[in-house]
Amino acid sequence: MMTSNSIELKEYLRERVALVDAALDRWLPEKDVLPPRLHEAMRYSVFAGGKRLRPILIIAACEAVGGVPERVLHAACAMEMIHTYSLIHDDLPAMDDDDLRRGQPTNHKVFGEANAILAGDALLTEAFRLLADTEANRGIDPAVSLRVIETISRCAGSQGMVGGQVVDMESEGKSLDFATLQYIHTRKTGALFRASLQAGAWIGGGSDGEVAALTRYGETAGLAFQIADDILNIVGSQAEIGKDVGSDHARGKATYPALLGLSEARRRAEELRDLAIAALEPLGANAEPLRAIARYVVDRTS
Ligand code: IPE
Ligand code: IPE
Ligand code: MG
Ligand code: MG
Repeated sequence: MMTSNSIELKEYLRERVALVDAALDRWLPEKDVLPPRLHEAMRYSVFAGGKRLRPILIIAACEAVGGVPERVLHAACAMEMIHTYSLIHDDLPAMDDDDLRRGQPTNHKVFGEANAILAGDALLTEAFRLLADTEANRGIDPAVSLRVIETISRCAGSQGMVGGQVVDMESEGKSLDFATLQYIHTRKTGALFRASLQAGAWIGGGSDGEVAALTRYGETAGLAFQIADDILNIVGSQAEIGKDVGSDHARGKATYPALLGLSEARRRAEELRDLAIAALEPLGANAEPLRAIARYVVDRTS
């Protein structure tokens, strides 16, 4: 049965996904712009049907501190472009070698490996162009814009998402220790979540206390999200998650259920969800969507 909480969240997400999708469409070069195959490949994966969770977190963090979504749309789109590049590369034969993403054939299956690599490179690069865009940054303190760019770079880079991906690959087929597993998950997924919350909070004009609370939320919800992803790779349905199931076990991936078992992994995700909600204590009613998102992150089936 659907609770009023899930109905309200659905509506909240629907409105913000529409804002993000329209802005992405505006900022990404059209398919007929030279070179057309590259722009087609970029648009193919961006519009394949992602949940848009990271851009929504940027918007929700901005709104939680009293800001308006329009102010953070460029950062929200840049984050989704970085996330999409990471998925295109994650699916490559040299990495997870997956055929299905967002319910569609993976980028390299459609456009070939070279174009998939380059579409990812271009999305990453264009994301930073957008973050630095003069028009998009109008009205934002340049010191804040620079802090956002620095933070997103750090969280996406060698000590953030890319670092997590490297250790994820190095750990395939090996027996795991918990510290390494936590390193992988907090970086390959947690880092972009954390940066999303911080970017939204800073641009929205949050106080130091609000930013600290939202940072903590990002860290805990991000880790909970990746544990849920690990669980869905075992118990999810391909039709709902839009990706192949069982692939983590087949590749000997470092996951929470592999190390701790399904029920303990679930318990940890729920514990992190509660910590994320508790972190929002200093924030008022404007943070309600973030509380609903924390519950969704753990309960989701897609
Ligand atoms: C998938 O992220 C990769 C992980 C970090 C688990 P999402 O589940 O947010 O993927 P999309 O954007 O909805 O496709
Ligand atoms: C995804 O990790 C993390 C990034 C792409 C940065 P996974 O490899 O576990 O995610 P899925 O299951 O392919 O989406
Ligand atoms: Mg991977
Ligand atoms: Mg993968």
